[in-house]
Amino acid sequence: MSNTKQIKIGVINVSDRASKGIYEDIPGKAVVSTLNEYLVSEWEPVYKVIPDEQDQIEAAFKEMADEAGCCLIVTTGGTGPAKRDVTPEATEAVCQKMMPGFGELMRQESLKYVPTAILSRQTAGIRNNTLIVNLPGKPKAIRECLDAVFPAIPYCIDLIEGPYLECNTEVVKVFRPKSS
Ligand code: MTE
Repeated sequence: MSNTKQIKIGVINVSDRASKGIYEDIPGKAVVSTLNEYLVSEWEPVYKVIPDEQDQIEAAFKEMADEAGCCLIVTTGGTGPAKRDVTPEATEAVCQKMMPGFGELMRQESLKYVPTAILSRQTAGIRNNTLIVNLPGKPKAIRECLDAVFPAIPYCIDLIEGPYLECNTEVVKVFRPKSS
């Protein structure tokens, strides 16, 4: 039964400086506290802070998706144009299907706040039963982007046969087509 599955969500802060302890891991914590606000279902975070190294990002995706069984993995950082920004490349390398609508909507929403939103190459994709979503690294951007795309995430997870995510409708207006 899909709705009795344990809910695990991966949170990866991709940052050279946070991984060395030069920066505090504010983005990763911001994702966890936002998900705590959204979700009524009990869930367990699977958490990592790693440098902007494509092989390490891909390894973290595989570990969280294939071994830990996360239904969702949210990354922060590494989506821009700088040389070391490779989170979207790592995402594409491990996914069978890309979900370009996520990046399109997040950029559209972010443009309401900053013109540099177009510099983010953030995307999303599906690896087997796991949805991977990239967010930019700025803590403020994390909430803005998650608020935009989260309403479609529980239904996406239903479609890839993940657990049923129960959400707080006062905080996030999750949409599931009536037939589902
Ligand atoms: N999106 C929102 N909502 N708010 C922001 O401040 N910053 C942009 C963009 N998206 C921003 C945003 C900037 S300046 C960059 S360079 C890109 O995200 C990439 O950020 P990243 O490399 O931390 O992923």
